[in-house]
Amino acid sequence: MILIDNISKYFGNTVALENVSCEIRTSEITAVIGPSGGGKTTLLRCINGLELPDSGEISVDGIVLTKKTAGIIRKEVGMVFQQFNLFPHLSVLRNVTIAQQVVKRKKTIEAEETASSLLQKVGLEDKITCYHCQLSGGQQQRVAIARALALNPKIMLFDEPTSNLDPEMTKEVLNVIRNLAKEGMTMIIASHEMGFAQEVANKILFMDNGTIVEEGTPQEIFNSPKHDRTIRFLSKIIRC
Ligand SMILES: Nc1ncnc2c1ncn2[C@@H]1O[C@H](COP(=O)(O)OP(=O)(O)O)[C@@H](O)[C@H]1O
Ligand SMILES: [Mg+2]
Repeated sequence: MILIDNISKYFGNTVALENVSCEIRTSEITAVIGPSGGGKTTLLRCINGLELPDSGEISVDGIVLTKKTAGIIRKEVGMVFQQFNLFPHLSVLRNVTIAQQVVKRKKTIEAEETASSLLQKVGLEDKITCYHCQLSGGQQQRVAIARALALNPKIMLFDEPTSNLDPEMTKEVLNVIRNLAKEGMTMIIASHEMGFAQEVANKILFMDNGTIVEEGTPQEIFNSPKHDRTIRFLSKIIRC
């Protein structure tokens, strides 16, 4: 579904990604872990076409990412950010219908039907008329997930979706992601929730300094990491 072939991305003198390659198969769930500044967000933004790599190639569902195809790829790939980024002046329902109407040109009634069923799926059917200031962080993030799903993406990217949430809200959001995993959605999740990554992911990428230092199954990465850098990172996290 996603082919990443030797991509590099620089911001001035900063190396955000260097010679990153990986393959993501349909319905695979990949967790990207690693220290802050390691390149996780940049990798997700490149897959979504929000950034173009300086060298190397990305293809998503057979489409090679270029300036011209970025818009097409973005329609196939939903992204959920650390900050929920809901439109504050719009109701929950409208937050989930607006892109369907603008991007997919759906009729209001059709967009509202899709929105209602997605809001039900994320457990927010009773919040349809609310505005973001009336919602908890966990509820806002679940609206953001429904909004991304409303465009019927083939792939969902999550960039530290729970890092601004307290443990109870984290649980609500992780449950929604868990259910998407059960439905076979192809997903890449950058996360510091190691227990969740271990439970849900088929594959773990450990990133540091803009490179994939180590890649493997949760069993391989968490139980027998090979690289010193992975071992040091995991031992610190476990000690916290
Ligand atoms: N828009 C940007 N402008 C300048 N530097 C950036 C930008 N985005 C990311 N970087 C830099 O690229 C590196 C990787 O960042 P990022 O992908 O955000 O890592 P992570 O998500 O793992 O914390 C960091 O050194 C960061 O400071
Ligand atoms: Mg990040």
